[in-house]
Amino acid sequence: MTLKNTLDDAALSLLFTGARTHNGWTDEPVTDAQLAQIYALASLGPTSANCSPARFVFVRTPEGKERLAPALSKGNLEKTMTAPVTVIAAWDRKFYDRLPTLFPHADARSWFTGSPEAAHETAFRNASLQAGYLLLAARAVGLDAGPMSGFDKAKVDAAFFEGTDWTVNFLINLGHGDTSKLFGRLPRLAFDEACLLA
Ligand SMILES: Cc1cc2nc3c(=O)[nH]c(=O)nc-3n(C[C@H](O)[C@H](O)[C@H](O)COP(=O)(O)O)c2cc1C
Repeated sequence: MTLKNTLDDAALSLLFTGARTHNGWTDEPVTDAQLAQIYALASLGPTSANCSPARFVFVRTPEGKERLAPALSKGNLEKTMTAPVTVIAAWDRKFYDRLPTLFPHADARSWFTGSPEAAHETAFRNASLQAGYLLLAARAVGLDAGPMSGFDKAKVDAAFFEGTDWTVNFLINLGHGDTSKLFGRLPRLAFDEACLLA
């Protein structure tokens, strides 16, 4: 019998048990090489038919943050402006045009070109998964994250995606978290409350 490797407690803490949603940041920067690394990791997470609909804009310049600022809710403004990086986790409405490359052994593009509902559901489901993979990849390489849905979607799309098929899903601040700005850990549903065994 071969034993599968499993993560030790320190790794589980980095990803889950000790990881938190951060609201403030230290001055420690995030490098473009780290952003490339977390994308490379996240891109390996599974998506249906390998469709990979997520697209990511890593906003890390003052000019980029200024473009984002008018779209942010009041409560998300300061933490976003001070975060080393804010990821616009987006998706491509025409993700299916890449399927001949991503899933070459079937005519997968045709599954979506005739059905806007199937295209939307597939893109949104898988892009959301991929953004989750990216958040966990960031934690895995020692970064902290703060996801946010408190923003004006139309404003983000107008500021970053005018004339393209990309559209925002949610935002994720990245950096090294300032633990003095953490909120208390909220309760989670117990297994018996959220899960059934069938
Ligand atoms: C998709 C998503 C959107 C969120 N939107 C916001 C937001 O707009 N503003 C905010 O302060 N926190 C936001 N949060 C943070 C959640 O409230 C936080 O992740 C949750 O309470 C768990 O906190 P913990 O990871 O520290 O346990 C969001 C989280 C997710 C996953």
